[in-house]
Amino acid sequence: MTARVEPPADPRRILSSLGALRALAGTYPAGHPMIADKLREADEAVRQHLHGRDAIRIDIIHGVVHLDGIPFDGDSDVRGIGVDSIHFRSGVQPEELQALAEVLWQLKPDDAAEPVSVSLTRRQVRHITVGRLVPLDTSWRAQQWTDRPAGVLDPDYEESLALAQQTFEQLSTGRALDTVTVRDLVRLLISRVASSNVALAHILAVKQYENLTYCHSVNVAVLSLLLGRQLRLDNETLTALVEAALLHDVGKTRIPLDLIKKPGALDKRERRMVEAHTIFGAEILVQTEGLGPVTPLVALEHHRSVAGSGYPDLGDGVVPHVFSQIVSVADIYEAVTGARSYQAPTPPERACLLLARLAGEKLNGALVKAFVNAITFFPIGSLVRTSRDEIGLVIRTATGEPLHPVISLVDETLQTPAGEIDTTERDASGAYCRHIVETLPQRDSLNVAHFLTAAA
Ligand SMILES: [Fe+2]
Ligand SMILES: [Fe+2]
Repeated sequence: MTARVEPPADPRRILSSLGALRALAGTYPAGHPMIADKLREADEAVRQHLHGRDAIRIDIIHGVVHLDGIPFDGDSDVRGIGVDSIHFRSGVQPEELQALAEVLWQLKPDDAAEPVSVSLTRRQVRHITVGRLVPLDTSWRAQQWTDRPAGVLDPDYEESLALAQQTFEQLSTGRALDTVTVRDLVRLLISRVASSNVALAHILAVKQYENLTYCHSVNVAVLSLLLGRQLRLDNETLTALVEAALLHDVGKTRIPLDLIKKPGALDKRERRMVEAHTIFGAEILVQTEGLGPVTPLVALEHHRSVAGSGYPDLGDGVVPHVFSQIVSVADIYEAVTGARSYQAPTPPERACLLLARLAGEKLNGALVKAFVNAITFFPIGSLVRTSRDEIGLVIRTATGEPLHPVISLVDETLQTPAGEIDTTERDASGAYCRHIVETLPQRDSLNVAHFLTAAA
């Protein structure tokens, strides 16, 4: 007798047989030979994957099948399941697969329907769970935000982004960190970018793009620099701080991009993978010669709180280095003012309130205060609406009046400045004539640089 040759383990076999079973469940009664056939196929495929393991998980992220977090290359037609994450535990029975197929067949896209987890439990399915119930096609979310800042960029800021992109891409292809480029980049950020109003406008304002790690890193470096200057750190210390801030998330080059950009909440396992970027980052930086001694430490500690919580677990009572504390403030501000595929950006004034809420427990309160003073609630370049329904671009902020900037009114064409208004102006009773009521999303057609140059 010849030994049976097992086909190679391919998670797409599970998905295609489940997809077929799901379709058949809507056409034929249980026990029909066609169903029995497909059920055998699905059962075989699941058992083969579970061989010697306690559990497996299959995710479909942007149309690519992932088995236990590892993308499975090759063409795949993964339509027809209706969910995008399935976990199988050892001991799964064919009846459970059959029940799953029937539940998936009845799956309705609207929120009012009974959750799949409830339907599965009701049908005695104990070894299968279905993950996030977002439709397979999440491209509508991804298309909402681009990856790059739009509009006219400051040339130095643009160059910084290009250098950072190159550095991070090299790292993600397994090459060593290019410390020469890193040094150039740090110099460029300190000498040029942080003093350019246009660049700062892009960094500080609400960002209508879902920024990738390199872009986030440049922004966090500049924000850390602004905070460092506010604290009156000397130049040598500032250089070390900017280098550490620029490289704080370098460990993300070791995490699959799909996971970093994944819409919606992450489950426990995915979260652990993303959290590992702190340790990966520290490893990369410790092995790189020519960097400051605190740089790897910031990569390791930037998600830890001043109270000693957060990740990675470094033991009780370990207070992060002050550089790590500075980068944590800049990191949170930068992350929340940027768009996410599952979350709209937070305006700067609300981001500052969020920082204030985190002060003491998570963030260093004194640093948060200094940061808010350094950046102002309505950063230069942000588009705002006043209580008199005027729309203008913030062009100056007076010290001591962070909530009442000078704005340049914007006309309908968004091209020509239509006069300046100083919102610190008060009426006869001493009350402010107007307040800023909200920050508006930046518009592509608005030439921020032109307005700021005209105001200079
Ligand atoms: Fe991070
Ligand atoms: Fe970060």
